[in-house]
Amino acid sequence: MKEKIQKLKSEKNAVILAHYYAPEEAQSVADFVGDSFYLAKVAKQTSADIIVFCGVSFMGESAKILNPEKKVLMPDITADCPMAHMVAPGKIQEMREKYEDLAVVCYINATAELKCMSDVCVTSSNAVKIVRALKNQNIFFIPDRNLGKFVAEQVPEKNVIINDGYCPIHAVITKEQLAAVKNEHPKAEILTHPECEPEVLEMSDYIGSTADIIAYAQKSEGKEFIICTEDGVKYKLKKDNPDKNFYFVSPTPCCKDMKLNTLENILSVLEKEDNIVEIHEEKRQKALIPLDKMLECAK
Ligand code: 13P
Ligand code: SF4
Repeated sequence: MKEKIQKLKSEKNAVILAHYYAPEEAQSVADFVGDSFYLAKVAKQTSADIIVFCGVSFMGESAKILNPEKKVLMPDITADCPMAHMVAPGKIQEMREKYEDLAVVCYINATAELKCMSDVCVTSSNAVKIVRALKNQNIFFIPDRNLGKFVAEQVPEKNVIINDGYCPIHAVITKEQLAAVKNEHPKAEILTHPECEPEVLEMSDYIGSTADIIAYAQKSEGKEFIICTEDGVKYKLKKDNPDKNFYFVSPTPCCKDMKLNTLENILSVLEKEDNIVEIHEEKRQKALIPLDKMLECAK
């Protein structure tokens, strides 16, 4: 299957992008593997005709919004992020009416509809930097409450209003689960994704996006790490650091939507060119504004 995928990729001038949460088999055939921010930048810059996006629907949508002339294919078109839907559009309108200078800051893990109602997108690797740089005093952060709270703490000079969305994979990690692993490996540093609950973040030595966690583990002189994020990052962590040990809470956090990106599905979309991401042009142009603003602000 891997050989067939490589052959089709070069015949069709296709490129495969995979998030760190995609299964190892998908990461192993991908041309680019990274966090949400890195993949959005790659999607914007690629000269390929076809982008196969091994991620979830908001990622495929973002690639299409940034690249309307390209064919964007999802190995499984049903792969979705529950958090991407966790804001009522009426709530955004309500906040805009309440605060005159409001900036709606949208975590990239949101549907294209929600992006259309937002001023700027962010990812977990640039949210603090972008919110801090905004001129607006009042910020409505959607959809993730935990990343929103984390940003609010880092940027205390702003009034950050938080929405109640959450990631069902990260938000269920408990401080008791984390304490149990720490008890087994007392010397291990705890590296945590900001989608986790505040009480888990408080116990952590480092908080960052998946790419930040991977970079931290690589640079650190430590040999043992407790990783508070989805288990897909294990592949890259182990590949880059064969001499280091990585532990996860039990049960290991696993995003079932990300795991839909199998070799079978990748090969199938490359063969059939189906599961095409389509976005109405008017909607695409509106959703492009906050995405472009993110790419500009994060420079
Ligand atoms: P990052 O890619 O920004 O680390 O976000 C993790 C995530 O949940 C993606 O769905
Ligand atoms: Fe969404 Fe959480 Fe899965 Fe990321 S890990 S895609 S935020 S459900």
